[in-house]
Amino acid sequence: MDNQATVYVGLMSGTSLDSVDAVAVSFEPKFTLIATHTEAIPDQLKQSITRLMLPGDNEIDRMGEIDIQLGQLFAKATNQLINSNNLNRSKIKAVGSHGQTVRHRPELGFTLQIGDANIIAEQTGITTITDFRRRDMAAGGQGAPLVPAFHHAMLHNSAKDRVLLNIGGMANITYLPSNPEKPISGFDTGPGNILMDAWINDQRQLGYDKDGAWAASGKINNDLLFSLLELDYFQEAPPKSTGREQFNLNWLKQKLHNFSDIHPEDIQATLAALTAYTIADCIKRFTPYSDFELLVCGGGSHNQFLLQQLRSALPTADIANSDIAGIAADWMEAAAFAWLAMRCLEGKTGNISDATGASGERILGAIYQA
Ligand SMILES: Nc1ncnc2c1ncn2[C@@H]1O[C@H](COP(=O)(O)OP(=O)(O)OP(=O)(O)O)[C@@H](O)[C@H]1O
Ligand SMILES: [Mg+2]
Repeated sequence: MDNQATVYVGLMSGTSLDSVDAVAVSFEPKFTLIATHTEAIPDQLKQSITRLMLPGDNEIDRMGEIDIQLGQLFAKATNQLINSNNLNRSKIKAVGSHGQTVRHRPELGFTLQIGDANIIAEQTGITTITDFRRRDMAAGGQGAPLVPAFHHAMLHNSAKDRVLLNIGGMANITYLPSNPEKPISGFDTGPGNILMDAWINDQRQLGYDKDGAWAASGKINNDLLFSLLELDYFQEAPPKSTGREQFNLNWLKQKLHNFSDIHPEDIQATLAALTAYTIADCIKRFTPYSDFELLVCGGGSHNQFLLQQLRSALPTADIANSDIAGIAADWMEAAAFAWLAMRCLEGKTGNISDATGASGERILGAIYQA
């Protein structure tokens, strides 16, 4: 590693609860992915987090315990990233930790990410920034998505419009117009992998549908697809953001009451089609939808069946993995929070108000000193 480069660590634990992603990156003279690490989330912790994501009893005590456990897990992820890659700790300026979202209620003006940053700072000896979303909300925004500013800084292309598509638990897009005068937009299109993960877990006790193979063995059921599409969220215009409060196994099972004779694999194929259709619909309705490049990132970029559905819903689009533009698809979100940490320390803004709906650009994050 270049001894002179200032390094930032980014930590992302997304709605899928698949793992904690940790990256070490530098931004000078250009974006460089120095090291990566995946920290597994122990099963018991995963279960307690999942329970906390929907309303239930004695949430404050349970949240307090999980806040500590996640703080420790995030610190461990950072220390593993540093130690197993022989990184020089003293060159790391800050850790940017997104935290684990356990409730996202933009309609009520609050969002909650936990994973105590005091513990991360204490156990790593590195200044830690967290709580990136709430200042945007205080300014009237959704607190999400926050990645568009990073996408713009790293991936703006003055020759061609770009749409960045992140398929995580939820799916979100960022529209980057080639013309810098035009507004950037970004929002959640709806579910990414979350319903497919929930369904395969319920039916086959698997964490996710590897490469979309199970979905590929089924047939899309159009009646079910239309019924799922009835939800108001899909019709709403941006800015908008969503989470597990809306898209979860209970919602799916309620919808399935009227479809008792569909094979489980057909349901999985239909859920993949729902993700692809709603992404394509948003691109058609809310971007100019002409001569653009679609760059895909997030875990869903590995789901071949989903990508095939996306290609057939957007037949004229030039679709590629974000790797080709210089940012690895699996590490985009973690890298974004390393960048947001840098912006915070430099006193620079981190949101794009056209994307979040805030009344202006704001410096995001709370600093916990080393
Ligand atoms: N090989 C694969 N085949 C199919 N799906 C995959 C594969 N690898 C990962 N995934 C999907 O990607 C999901 C994880 O994606 P990712 O980590 O981007 O989402 P996330 O943790 O919810 O993050 P965020 O909320 O920031 O978008 C897994 O739960 C799984 O559904
Ligand atoms: Mg993840």
